[in-house]
Amino acid sequence: MALERTFSMLKPDAVKAAHIGDIYQQIEATGLKIVAVKMLQLSREQAEGFYAEHHGKSFYEPLIAFMTEGPIMVQVLEGEHAIETYRNLMGATDPSQAAPNTLRANYGSGMPANATHGSDSPESASREIAFFFSDDEICG
Ligand code: TYD
Ligand code: MG
Repeated sequence: MALERTFSMLKPDAVKAAHIGDIYQQIEATGLKIVAVKMLQLSREQAEGFYAEHHGKSFYEPLIAFMTEGPIMVQVLEGEHAIETYRNLMGATDPSQAAPNTLRANYGSGMPANATHGSDSPESASREIAFFFSDDEICG
């Protein structure tokens, strides 16, 4: 298979708890390469744009509040089956349901504070990478 790219985010809870290095270590241990990185704090408008698919759901307002409460790290990951590999590394959305040693089991504390985000399809990966990175910011 050709190399694939996915979008990864360390959410405010993971950054605040000083788990950036721990999570990067687990990402790199999968063989995926980190090919772009930045730290930023989302505005409400950015958080709403990023999570537009969830607008109107019961968890939407708490999710937007949580996502804007502190800095995040965003990454582009590259490798074979990058999307599936990173979703598997994250584990289930609810940390209490996530398999042992997944990122959400290790570093998530609940919902929405589940430590990480990862793209769920090639279409979302393209959209989410372009949401945060220009082509010349990615070291492919
Ligand atoms: P979703 O896209 O369903 O999950 P994933 O992050 O695994 O792709 O939901 C987006 C985020 O919304 C999720 O990471 C945490 C939050 N969320 C809740 O707070 N409560 C919920 O019931 C769900 C489904 C999600
Ligand atoms: Mg999702």
